[in-house]
Amino acid sequence: MSSQPPTFLVLGAGVIGLTSALSLRDQYPSSPITILATHFPGDRSINYTSPWAGANWCSFAHDNGPLESYDRTTFHKFSEIVDKYPEAGIRRMPIWAVFEARLEETGILTEETGKVWYEELAGLRDLTEEEVASCGGLEEGVEGFGWAYEKAFTVNTQVYLNWLQNRALSKGINTVRRTYPSIKAALLDFPSTTLLVNATGLGSLTLEDVKDTTMYPTRGQTVLVSEPKVPIPRMYIRSPGRLDPTTTYVFPRPFGGGVILGGSRQEGDWSAEPDMQLAKEIMERCCKLCPALGRPEDLQIVSHNVGLRPSRKEGTRVEREKKSEWGGVSVVHCYGHSGAGYQSSWGSAERVVELVGKALEAGVKL
Ligand SMILES: Cc1cc2nc3c(=O)[nH]c(=O)nc-3n(C[C@H](O)[C@H](O)[C@H](O)COP(=O)(O)OP(=O)(O)OC[C@H]3O[C@@H](n4cnc5c(N)ncnc54)[C@H](O)[C@@H]3O)c2cc1C
Ligand SMILES: *[C@@H]1O[C@H](CO)[C@@H](O)[C@H](O)[C@H]1NC(C)=O
Ligand SMILES: *[C@@H]1O[C@H](CO)[C@@H](O)[C@H](O)[C@H]1NC(C)=O
Repeated sequence: MSSQPPTFLVLGAGVIGLTSALSLRDQYPSSPITILATHFPGDRSINYTSPWAGANWCSFAHDNGPLESYDRTTFHKFSEIVDKYPEAGIRRMPIWAVFEARLEETGILTEETGKVWYEELAGLRDLTEEEVASCGGLEEGVEGFGWAYEKAFTVNTQVYLNWLQNRALSKGINTVRRTYPSIKAALLDFPSTTLLVNATGLGSLTLEDVKDTTMYPTRGQTVLVSEPKVPIPRMYIRSPGRLDPTTTYVFPRPFGGGVILGGSRQEGDWSAEPDMQLAKEIMERCCKLCPALGRPEDLQIVSHNVGLRPSRKEGTRVEREKKSEWGGVSVVHCYGHSGAGYQSSWGSAERVVELVGKALEAGVKL
């Protein structure tokens, strides 16, 4: 074993690539780390999902396993970030959620335990009837319920992505903008790489060496509007289930981020153009859910946004792989976070670091 510290290459500069690189830095203070990507914070492209997220922490994991644990770790890390780095763009903010279905039908419960894993963590309580009525109420004959998540987070993605990048730069992480057709091609340009982290999101489908055809986009459209004069004190969600194509949401973004109105979940839809009829419906639904927004026709629209959530049939993949064509270099995959890339980011990055540790122990190219 040589005494040289391992050299890391991280492919992708979305929330996943940036967070993974920072977590690696904590564990390997003297390692050379390079982030390689087509897009960096500040860019707006349909091929770069992270800037288009809402975003908030409101877990929809219910696997009694890794996904719940990623979200738990991230919750605690967000808490720490809010306390230590107010400039990071994250704030604590409660959520009021109205579900138009019976709890058992919402997909919220963890099957094995019959419970909501984050009940205590998020400080769940039932909304009162008046509170439910204040967000549009439930229609005649519709069974449903309302919950307050007293503890949750809202993220100004524009500020937060830049903060992650600045932290990376200040910790000596190298950034290179270049597009690679394959992992192999990236490794050829960076021959001293010990280990590569693949955090390319949907970019995947075009990487030649292993096309993961179980990846697909879940299109999400939102409207960014100005903040009303009286700040909205909480986030709102209305949905038949925790994840549903018709979910309506209002996320006030902290630090001058405006208010994000959503949304849609359109599986397999690659269209980058905003659908103006859908935008109109979203604004109407949101004003009903959160009357403090005022009337739809009075909203000050800043932008219409479309993002493609990097979905994967079997869910998020955080795994190690080795292939002969990569010349003994291990690849740790970290992709397919779909609609949970922010709220699971620090937990899945922690798993990346664990897998990297195992790969290095196994003596990969050392
Ligand atoms: C409308 C909407 C709302 C959302 N709301 C939330 C929310 O409230 N909470 C939440 O947690 N999540 C939310 N999400 C999901 C979240 O945005 C994603 O899970 C997350 O951004 C995925 O990040 P990523 O780093 O994997 O991918 P990306 O951000 O797409 O980053 C991929 C990176 O890889 C690079 N890349 C790809 N291919 C190549 C290549 N061949 N060569 C070089 N570079 C390459 C790209 O340039 C980019 O830097 C939302 C998403 C949408 C669309
Ligand atoms: C997005 O990526 C696809 C696949 O690589 C490419 O064909 C397309 O031109 C890209 N779109 C933009 C706007 O960059
Ligand atoms: C890299 O990750 C993408 C998903 O982002 C996946 O589809 C692809 O197969 C991975 N690339 C390699 C070479 O394994």
